[in-house]
Amino acid sequence: MPETCDVWVRGASLYDGSGSAPRVADVALRGDRIVQVGARPDLHASVSLDAGGLALAPGFIDVHTHVDFALLVRPEMDFKVLGGVTTCVVGNCGMGAAPWRTAMVMARAFHPDARLPEWNGYTGYLARLDAEPPSVNAAVLVGHGTVRASAMGNAKRAPSGAELETMRAIVREGRDAGAVGLSTGLIYEPGRYTATDEIVALAAELSGTGALYATHMRNEGEGLLDSVREAIEIGRRAHVPVQISHHKASGERNWGLVRESLALIERARAAGLEVHADQYPYTAGSTALAAVVQNGAFDDRPGGLGSVSPESVSIAAAPGHSEWEGRSIAELARELGKDAQSAAEHVIARAPGVTAVMHTMNEDDVRTVMRHPSTMIGSDGIPTLPGKPHPRLWGTFARVLGRYARDLGLFPIEEAVHRMTGLPAQKFGLRDRGVIRAGAFADLVVFDPARILDVGTYEDPNRAPAGIHHVFVNGTRVVRDGTHTGERPGRTLRRAS
Ligand code: ZN
Ligand code: CU
Repeated sequence: MPETCDVWVRGASLYDGSGSAPRVADVALRGDRIVQVGARPDLHASVSLDAGGLALAPGFIDVHTHVDFALLVRPEMDFKVLGGVTTCVVGNCGMGAAPWRTAMVMARAFHPDARLPEWNGYTGYLARLDAEPPSVNAAVLVGHGTVRASAMGNAKRAPSGAELETMRAIVREGRDAGAVGLSTGLIYEPGRYTATDEIVALAAELSGTGALYATHMRNEGEGLLDSVREAIEIGRRAHVPVQISHHKASGERNWGLVRESLALIERARAAGLEVHADQYPYTAGSTALAAVVQNGAFDDRPGGLGSVSPESVSIAAAPGHSEWEGRSIAELARELGKDAQSAAEHVIARAPGVTAVMHTMNEDDVRTVMRHPSTMIGSDGIPTLPGKPHPRLWGTFARVLGRYARDLGLFPIEEAVHRMTGLPAQKFGLRDRGVIRAGAFADLVVFDPARILDVGTYEDPNRAPAGIHHVFVNGTRVVRDGTHTGERPGRTLRRAS
């Protein structure tokens, strides 16, 4: 009797996630796992998939997402799986899913109509996802901003001893629930009122567990280098690995600084600290318009974004005011007969959760950061659907593979695949993920290396990338011939120590 398996993917060019060159191989799946890699003519499969001429890779791991609530509100997660993503790390930029009451502030900003049942801590959040699984896997970061707001509101000062103890207890609860790290958002409320010592004290709760410190740094403009130094200092003092979120130099005056920030990362790595960054492959960023204003983008107050011209900032999603979506602050200012600052304030007053896209980066910098071996890929997509979210929400991984690796030759496809699979799985402690080998989980993507490309634009962002044929999550097919199957086999991933 021949051995059996559930699915046999035959004849694809195999990119196994390790960064090694592709080879043609057959891959057999049984249940939620890969059971065999390599030709085996007597294997009997229920489903045989001819993938000749196509590429087979581990499903992409999006290390920087804000889908904490979208996982529950829009569990098919079409904007992820149609782009080949099989795992999302949530809780970035200091914005986490617990404690519930404060987390709901972000939930309502992104999903104004959503009603989410109360959960207790990160344990409760993960249990909720286990009970109502989405189509992708999820790993969670504890969000410092959410923790701080729940302990001390928006107080513009250091915490008292008791407040700090409350925060530490929440971080420990997340850690013990299996969180993969702690994140900060140091340009946002209330993260911006946080001193280095407070972060060290909280990150130290993770020391020895393998969980990491991920940070949206205090300043990505003129203060970029000091901010990277601070992140590295926190890693050293708290004895935790460091992840610099969306590595960039923001604002024209600061372009080129990434060469020096990469040198700081290299020096810290040489000295033994595990430091990486993630990046989305675009020259525009996106965040809450309120944060853009608060960081002095339209006047000369110091802030974390550098200075930004009102022409280069446009409205992404404005709940209740779709007529503003896609329009620039400069246009709205002319129409309203106001200056840029007052126009932005006018918009925020009427649509408090409004998000913006800002063109603040330089293409050379994007390539310099991407080429660097310490850089992983993370979309930072904000799931404000409908609306005109930054196209990174859908297109990030296809764009790195199609535009940067294939068309521009920035690095080989196998290197690009490694930065979105094997490398993040190892850094974030996702055991048996991000690799194709017997025994690993069957999170897989089959794509056409000649055709894969992002197709969404800033004007028309909600479009699935081209060239992605099939996606498996835990052995179940969620995308077949480019179409969502409706399956929801995602799991919560706890940190492997
Ligand atoms: Zn951020
Ligand atoms: Cu973010």
